[in-house]
Amino acid sequence: MSNETDEMNLATRCIHAGDTVDSATGAVMPQICTSTTFRQPAFDEPGEHVYARASNPTRDALERCVAALESGVRGLAYASGMAATAGVLELLDAGQHVIAPADIYGGSLRLFKQVRTRTSGLEFSFVDFSDLANVEQAIRPNTRLIWIETPTNPLLNIIDIAAVASLAKANDLLIAVDNTFATPCVQRPLESGCDIVMHSSTKYLGGHSDVLGGLVVVTDDELGQRLASLRSAVGAVAGPFDAYLVLRGIKTLALRMERHQSNALAIARWLAAHPRAERVLYPGLADHPGHALAAQQMAGFGGVVSFVLRGGASAVGPALNALRVFTLAESLGGVESLVGHPATMSHSSLSAAERASLGIPDNLIRLSVGIEHVDDLLADLDRVLGAS
Ligand SMILES: Cc1ncc(COP(=O)(O)O)c(C=O)c1O
Repeated sequence: MSNETDEMNLATRCIHAGDTVDSATGAVMPQICTSTTFRQPAFDEPGEHVYARASNPTRDALERCVAALESGVRGLAYASGMAATAGVLELLDAGQHVIAPADIYGGSLRLFKQVRTRTSGLEFSFVDFSDLANVEQAIRPNTRLIWIETPTNPLLNIIDIAAVASLAKANDLLIAVDNTFATPCVQRPLESGCDIVMHSSTKYLGGHSDVLGGLVVVTDDELGQRLASLRSAVGAVAGPFDAYLVLRGIKTLALRMERHQSNALAIARWLAAHPRAERVLYPGLADHPGHALAAQQMAGFGGVVSFVLRGGASAVGPALNALRVFTLAESLGGVESLVGHPATMSHSSLSAAERASLGIPDNLIRLSVGIEHVDDLLADLDRVLGAS
């Protein structure tokens, strides 16, 4: 029922998109197909599946589902979010140029600056996307791709997706959006003119902190085919168990995002009134510089809240060690609330000077607000911030 679901609400589509009922058995959830190879019907006549690096029925079901949710024509599941990002970069030739914001996920920056510059001869410019003139000025004859992330990790800046997409189109550039923080329940960049959406499905799509994965969705069949060939050549595909877990996670995505977002908004408002929070970064707060844009391009404001803790870097350790409901851990987007310290965790691959220039102070704390009861989350923060 894939085409039938296109007109339905997102919450319904999360459950039915991609027509994932097994047509052979009627199984409501697709089987976890572990076979790595598939019998050919006859000599020189490959069947639907040939070898698991190229395609696998469980992975296909996830790919159909996410392509439908993101309003694309083709989905591709990778072994991790970083493998998905690297897979998009494989589209480029040595010597081509990419423009990206400076404040994106630290792992993406590491891949761009420390790996693909050296191994693929790619060139990168990092600019402030709050003024599109910066992006326009950064375009060179060899520019091929604009890569954005919105909201950004960990500063939660908002980028105008439709405006960047039209700039990209006017200059014949590809535009890719890391949609990990928002999910297709909250924003669908392909509907705003983007070519490529990427996800770390390790986060909200998987949703339970038990699977590593990455996804790419595109609007163009030929681009999808090129990505599929490149992925098959390089090999960083999602395994069948992992594909199954992400597909299972997506079934409850809409419900979880509602709770993540309502909890995050309540916590951001509470922190904004708390004397221990020097600054609260959450696009749902009226004083956030991206608030109006977020209200326009997102259905909600996401589940991540960052704040600067009063008392400097030395106050961070005692506070984070004292939290009980929030777990001190990397990652985000799972049902459980996590707390992270970008300077020593997600953005530790950047130098102190790079972090300072991005505006990531050593007392910045990032909360991945889970779906627990909000009163318990507030009580945990209240106990710790009141006492530390
Ligand atoms: C916004 C964003 N993009 C990409 C990634 C990388 O994903 P993965 O850890 O699944 O490789 C992360 C991981 O934290 C992320 O937060």
